[in-house]
Parts: sequence; structure tokens; C-alpha cells
Amino acid sequence: MIHATAIVKSKIPESCVIHPYVVIGENVVLGGNCVIHSFVVISDHCEIAKNVEIFPGAYIGKEPKNTGALTHQPRFKRKLKIDSDCSIGPHAVIYYDVEISHNTLIGDGASIREQCVIGSKVIIGRYVTLNYDVKIGNRTKIMDHTWLAGNMEVGEDVFISGGVMTANDNNIGLAEYADHLTGPNIANRSRIGIGAIILPNVTIEQNSLVAAGSVVTKDVVANSSVKGMPARGY
Ligand SMILES: CC(C)(COP(=O)(O)OP(=O)(O)OC[C@H]1O[C@@H](n2cnc3c(N)ncnc32)[C@H](O)[C@@H]1OP(=O)(O)O)[C@@H](O)C(=O)NCCC(=O)NCCS
Repeated sequence: MIHATAIVKSKIPESCVIHPYVVIGENVVLGGNCVIHSFVVISDHCEIAKNVEIFPGAYIGKEPKNTGALTHQPRFKRKLKIDSDCSIGPHAVIYYDVEISHNTLIGDGASIREQCVIGSKVIIGRYVTLNYDVKIGNRTKIMDHTWLAGNMEVGEDVFISGGVMTANDNNIGLAEYADHLTGPNIANRSRIGIGAIILPNVTIEQNSLVAAGSVVTKDVVANSSVKGMPARGY
């Protein structure tokens, strides 16, 4: 069913429900049984597999804009893939050149920049921001309001609590370093407590625990726990 007010420029399977005021661009592929709620915009060339539900006001396939104000030049292809059985929350913004694997939940108002790759059964909580080129492994959970810096990696089965902040720039905004920024690397099964801060280039090895509110300035070895500012083993 396609509502009369929707603007749909691609061929959509009959089993999909397209609510009022949706805009779907050209060469969009939708699988069966997708539900696209009101005021969603899906840009040209996006690919969305079966059983995906997209809640009102989400923007799928936003083009990063370079007005000359950015120091990091966005790199992206005009494509985007959301695999089957995902749910995309209201007002989420997913840029072009993002891949999301099956059964993943994207929370209300989340913002996901170009070149991000997200595994299956992942939770991206409400108002989480993933900057450019963030890779997230299967079954990882990232809770509300966390901010992941550009060019970083999170493994599988990781738990990142709410309000965690990460950084990728020890030169703090000096333009000449913009293309050499690396965020932290958080390995499989690690757990990051609420409000922790993790500085650039730090590796948190597998199965580690970072206590709430810690400031992690150095690598954390596997199977260990750290706390405090600066974070130290305990
Ligand atoms: C790290 C943590 C698991 C430790 O819990 P615990 O083993 O029960 O530790 P205790 O509360 O017995 O505290 C042990 C000591 O560490 C200190 N401590 C505990 N948490 C700390 C933290 N986040 N930062 C610095 N010191 C901390 C305590 O003050 C205490 O110090 P003391 O021995 O000098 O009195 C816990 O404090 C924590 O940070 N939990 C994270 C909760 C969270 O973010 N959940 C997310 C989902 S909502």
C-alpha cells in the first residue's frame, strides 16, 4: 500500500506499507514487508532488505555536505545498505555509504555518518552519534547519548554504557592533522561504564572493564579492569 501523498520514484513490493508524506528516490530497492512511516526520506540508490521498519521523520541516505567549513573531507559513495529485520527510530539520520547488518536496532534520533559499518543484532541507542568510518561488531550494545569519534573500531559483544565520550584528535582541532585521526579501538566483550572518556589511539583489549566516569589515557590489557582519572588497573 502506498499512500496517495507519498512520492515514490522506485518500484516497491506490494507487501510494503508506505505511509503519508514519505519520499522515496530513484533506484531504491526495498524488500518485502517493509513499513515506512510518515515523513521518512529515502534517497536514491539506497538498498533496504525485507521486514525493515523505519519510523517517522528518519532520513536515510543523507549526503555529507562540505561547505568549506569542515577540516576532514567527507569520502563516500552514493549507496547505503540496511539488511533485513532492522528497526530505524524516528528522526534517525543515516548518511550515504553506511552498511547495517540484519536485526539491528537504531534508536530515536541516532546520527550515523558515512563509511560506518554496523554488524547484526547491534543496538545503537537513542541520540547516539557515530562519526565517520566507525566499525561496530555483531551483538554490541551502545547506550543512549554516547559519541563515537571518527575512524574507530568496536568489536563484538561489547557493552558501551550511556554518555560515553571518545576522541580521535590530540591536536584538538588543528586543521593540518585532520586526515590522520584515529579513535580508540575497543575489543570484543569489553564493557565501558557510564560517562567514561576514552582518548585517541587507545586500545582497550578484549574482555576488559572500564569503570564509570574513568578517563582512559593508555591501552588497557586484556581481561583487566581500570578506574579513575587517569584510569589505572585495580
Ligand atoms: C567499577 C565498578 C563495577 C566497581 O564496582 P565494585 O566492585 O562494587 O566496587 P566498589 O563499589 O566496592 O568500590 C571499590 C572501590 O573502588 C572505588 N570505585 C568504584 N567505582 C569507581 C569508579 N567508577 N571510579 C573510581 N573509583 C571507583 C570505590 O570508591 C571504592 O574505593 P575505596 O575502596 O577506596 O572505598 C562500579 O563502580 C562501576 O563503575 N560500575 C559501572 C556501572 C555502569 O556504568 N553501568 C552501566 C549500565 S547502567
